[in-house]
Amino acid sequence: MAKEFVVTPWEVRGEIDYNKLIERFGTEPIDEELLKRIETAAGGLHPLLTRGVFYSHRDLNWILDEYEKGNDFFLYTGRGPSSEVHVGHMLPWVFTKWLQDSLGVKLYFQITDDEKFLFRDFQNLEESQRVGYDNALDIIALGFDPSKTRIFLDSEVIRTLYPIALRVARRITFSTVKAVFGFTHSNNVGEIFYTSIQAVPCFLESVLQGENVPCLIPCGIDQDPHFRIARDVAPQLGYYKPALIHNKLVPSLQGMHAKMSASIPASAIFVTDDPQVARENVMEAVTGGGATVEEHRKYGGNPDICPVYHYYAYFFDWDEDHLKKVNETCRTGERLCGDCKAELADRVASFLETHQEKRKEARDKLQDFILTEEELSELEKA
Ligand code: TRP
Repeated sequence: MAKEFVVTPWEVRGEIDYNKLIERFGTEPIDEELLKRIETAAGGLHPLLTRGVFYSHRDLNWILDEYEKGNDFFLYTGRGPSSEVHVGHMLPWVFTKWLQDSLGVKLYFQITDDEKFLFRDFQNLEESQRVGYDNALDIIALGFDPSKTRIFLDSEVIRTLYPIALRVARRITFSTVKAVFGFTHSNNVGEIFYTSIQAVPCFLESVLQGENVPCLIPCGIDQDPHFRIARDVAPQLGYYKPALIHNKLVPSLQGMHAKMSASIPASAIFVTDDPQVARENVMEAVTGGGATVEEHRKYGGNPDICPVYHYYAYFFDWDEDHLKKVNETCRTGERLCGDCKAELADRVASFLETHQEKRKEARDKLQDFILTEEELSELEKA
């Protein structure tokens, strides 16, 4: 019997079959032809595309049609500020930055402090706001262009979001959210309403501009259910359906059966970790190697099922030749897991040092990025 797995925005369980997920969600795989189109538009391909980490989409061809015609579109992504940021959270942001740089487009970045309060990650809203602003530093540290990037906390700009959310909410039934998210009668009414808020940024630029602007959302595939609903509602409101490009989730350090999870510290590399702690976590990671050095030398390892190899491929090694060598020498048994982990640990530690430096600098840049009600009412008037 096929292994069961569950993927919703709030729960990921079991070993995910990503091809099955495409079928289940009804999205499209990113094929060679589409990669060529992206390459032409962007002037190159990010390794996350060539390596199949961003592997699924909705309506990306349409976005590229618009782009080729010289029409504007904008990017939208988000962060639920439930904890400190780990590498798994950051992966779609790295890709979003690449899209912004390559295509020169605007980005709205939603921080859903409301969501994380409603879903009981925090006892009070102030705490999720505090974490939201703290997470914003990690976003800014990635080097987004402040003239093209607006970051906002839902609770801070709700006056602008609310009328749009209401129009969305009126068109979503309880049956729909029950079916899509698996809600029951014990979910609170805020949770039931919440998807209307996550839909808003899809339409925000259209509302502000007074004419329809296409939206492309890079996100983990676990977020797709929200946007399936947003896409159903969009035409009823007279807007374009948002397009999406989905990434696979980053596996846990402890094995491919789970994703990196903020609630299991040893499973994750937090970008605020002490580099020494992160090093130790990496050295403790599960691998796809042989049970003993002897066996490994004889039969080789299997990078396909190795979390450590996935960290190279997903985040810490953008050099094709080097990655290929890691893969090949693992398979032949020449490369030992201990050495492989030690090299990854070095890469992780140096990433953390650089990131944490940039994160400090981000404090002074916060005002350049945070979208306020004042700015929104200016934009709406213009
Ligand atoms: N719900 C997302 C989370 O928990 C946050 C989010 C809001 C988001 N809007 C988004 C993520 C758009 C991706 C794209 O992390």
